[in-house]
Amino acid sequence: MAELMEDFGRRPSLRTGAVPPTRVTALSSTSSTRSSSTCTRGVIVPISSRTLPLGVFSSLRRPRDDEPMSDPLIWHRLQFAFTVIYHYLFPQLTMGLALLIVILKAVGLRTGDRRWDAAARFWIRIFGINFAFGVVTGIPMEFQFGTNWAGFSRFAGGVVGQTLAMEGMFAFFLESSFLGLLVFGERRLSRRGHFLAALALFFGSWLSGYFIVCTNAFLQHPAGQTLNAGGTLELADFWAFVLNPWALAQYAHTMMAAVVTAAFVMAAVGAWYGLLGKHSDQAARFLRVGTLAGLIASVAVAFPTGDQQAKLVARHQPVTLAAMEGRFASERMAGIVLIGQPNVREKRLDNPVVVPGFLSFLAYGTFHSNVRGLNEFPPDVWPDNIELLYYAFHVMAGLGTLLILLMALAVLFDLRGRLTASRPLLWALLLAFPFPYIATTAGWMTAELGRQPWLVYGLLRTAAGASPAVHSGTVLFTLIGFAGLYFVLGILFLFMIGREIAHGPEPPEGTGEATHG
Ligand code: HEM
Repeated sequence: MAELMEDFGRRPSLRTGAVPPTRVTALSSTSSTRSSSTCTRGVIVPISSRTLPLGVFSSLRRPRDDEPMSDPLIWHRLQFAFTVIYHYLFPQLTMGLALLIVILKAVGLRTGDRRWDAAARFWIRIFGINFAFGVVTGIPMEFQFGTNWAGFSRFAGGVVGQTLAMEGMFAFFLESSFLGLLVFGERRLSRRGHFLAALALFFGSWLSGYFIVCTNAFLQHPAGQTLNAGGTLELADFWAFVLNPWALAQYAHTMMAAVVTAAFVMAAVGAWYGLLGKHSDQAARFLRVGTLAGLIASVAVAFPTGDQQAKLVARHQPVTLAAMEGRFASERMAGIVLIGQPNVREKRLDNPVVVPGFLSFLAYGTFHSNVRGLNEFPPDVWPDNIELLYYAFHVMAGLGTLLILLMALAVLFDLRGRLTASRPLLWALLLAFPFPYIATTAGWMTAELGRQPWLVYGLLRTAAGASPAVHSGTVLFTLIGFAGLYFVLGILFLFMIGREIAHGPEPPEGTGEATHG
């Protein structure tokens, strides 16, 4: 630990990859660099393109022949990838559930029907368990900025520290205080007061999400920073940083994805009770809210939010778009790929099934727009794991289509009053609940692998962001520790959630009525 802290505190310079502030290196001819220069208020100093193309999160990258697995960077990335993927399993559900709980409480308040409050109470308990595991798994990541990513913290801490601190100080405290009120205050507060507590919880958790997404958006598309004399970034324009257009689009997409996750989980629990013939009244309620919210959010995830994200990537990270689609040659009327295997060695896509013209249209708004292929960019600015990036993007978009179809079918059945009686559809809803988790993980992999080889796009190579004094053995040691600890946490989580679901929603307060079917 002493070694890690020493590294964080005393690292003299960004040796591997960062250039001295005076050396402004024209980074190839990519418009990606140009775009980051134009979007940013403040001085932009692109970093030499000759540095190693490596990155955070994209830990599953192919080690090249000349890069042994003992390279600590691979392990730094694997550790961050593992901990962040695991951590995000929890907040995606809490952020989505926060909205659904507000909806349940609002309907209860409006109709005066206490059964909606009982439904909300059940989901508040599920929220509470997820929230606790989210906090426990989130804390190590903040430490990793210092222990594993000292170069990055030193270079960009003056900017990203702002949103990370605001997340902790404002949003997290708001969220945790109101969660306490929501769980323990129902009997003490009026119905309206309890609804307001749910609203504050929603506000806190979505604000928290914004600060985190805003931090990530800065890495994707830096805005509002300036480079100081010491060669590190500092905040020049707070509002340009906080209202970064990338952050707004990314936030909309991420939050809709969180609602998709929560809606699928709610519908799956409803389907489970429906299949067992238990809690029939609440099962129908969970199914109705889950499928309706699921349909709206699944559509919104594709359009307009996913579409908007794709347009931003096309505009500011064209090399990423080319890699996401496994596209090597530039083309007008470029088709969107449905199936195919990227063959990076031969620079082609094998066995492609393509819808002609669609990629040009989706990326730039007209069928005849030119989509630039990877061949137009120097290989050292290509994302370093094109295969995984390509599959992550296609898994996300493919699952997105499937989720819309499933929810549309379920809503149709529900409108006809046949959903609770349709066992095959209930089974499909039950078994589909992992899909949004997979799509969300694939979405983050797309964003993070696509950003490579940059840690801060156009400004800092990922290789320059790692802690140079920490060797592979140390990182692997802590990674094994995390794996063991998270395995135990996972068992505990499943046990606690399983117990809540087995217990089921309680009867509405004051009615003495059972919710069992
Ligand atoms: C259906 C069509 C979809 C499209 C066109 C789409 C498009 C995109 C694009 C272009 C990115 C950004 C990649 C980058 O920054 O380099 C992205 C990221 C992401 N996607 Fe999707 N997506 C779709 C479906 C989904 C679904 C179904 C989910 C989850 C339920 C999802 C969750 C995410 C997440 C969490 C991210 C990372 C955060 C971000 O960059 O916004 N996406 N998506």
